[in-house]
Formats: sequence, structure tokens, C-alpha cells
Amino acid sequence: MRLAIYPGSFDPITYGHLDIVKRAAKLFDGVIVAVLNNADKAPVFPADERIELIETAVSGIGGVTADSFEGLLVDYVKSKGADVVIRGLRGSSDFESELRMAQMNRQLDEDIITVFLPSDAGNSFVSSSLIKQIAAYGGDLSEFVPAPVASALRNKFKQR
Ligand code: PNS
Repeated sequence: MRLAIYPGSFDPITYGHLDIVKRAAKLFDGVIVAVLNNADKAPVFPADERIELIETAVSGIGGVTADSFEGLLVDYVKSKGADVVIRGLRGSSDFESELRMAQMNRQLDEDIITVFLPSDAGNSFVSSSLIKQIAAYGGDLSEFVPAPVASALRNKFKQR
């Protein structure tokens, strides 16, 4: 069974991420959407809430689960018995940093294979950080995130 890890911050998951998940699920027997639980960052959603939102969003996609990790990605990938890392590319600006990350991960562990999937053109401008800005000002999120994510974002920003 070929398992792939799709790592990221997912704060929160967007339709852009989901498009990558759906295509990764066609390529691999299993896909783990892995949330980085980074104590240095101050996410809008704690890791457990990000996982819940991902689980709801991927519930109709076979073979996909959600999890969180701390520390080095290569160590997490190995701990799951996987060797493939999925990353989405929205454009050339993503490519430079993603290439560096893929090369570094390979340097850390030569067995790790990074697979880049091009984002859907309609999602190339969608990012979690822009979504949070729209949410902070009460904008319409329906085109960019699933309804439960939009509702969770509205609640978060109401509390602030
Ligand atoms: O969604 P993001 O924020 O672009 O995801 C970045 C992520 C989580 C994939 C990356 O920061 C990561 O893998 N962090 C774990 C720490 C690590 O392994 N760093 C070295 C990779 S070069």
C-alpha cells in the first residue's frame, strides 16, 4: 500500500487544499493530511480544531485521514511508514520555496519523494492567510472554503 503525506498549516483548510487532496487520493492508496502543530506560530485554529475541519471536509474522499505532527516532517513521514510528500503548487512563487523544501527534505532523508501537484487555476489565488483577512472583515467565504470552515471562521472572528 502506497501512503502519501500531505503536510501543511491548514489554518484553515481551503478548497485549494481540497482539490490537491482529491487528486492525491487518486494517485495513492492512502493520504494523510498532516497538520503542523507548531508552538512558535499563533494559528487561528488550534491543531485539534484544524483536524476536525479537515475530517469533515474530506469525509467523502476514500482513503484520506487527518492527523497532526510536531518536529521534522521527514521524521513524521517515516513514523507513518510512508515515503511520499505531497505539496500543491499555485504558481512560480510557490515553486522556488517548495523546491528548496523538497531538496532539504531529500537531503535529510534520501528516501523521501516529494510530489508536486499543480493547483487548479481557479484556486491559484486562494490561501489560508487571505481567507482569514476576508473572514476578519466579514466578507463572503463561500467560494473559498467549505461551509463548516466558513462558519468556524465567522465564530472565531466574532469572538475577537
Ligand atoms: O502550509 P505550509 O505552512 O506552507 O506548510 C509548511 C510545512 C508544514 C510543510 C513545513 O513548514 C514543514 O514541513 N515543517 C515541519 C518542520 C520541517 O520539517 N522543516 C524542514 C523542512 S525543509
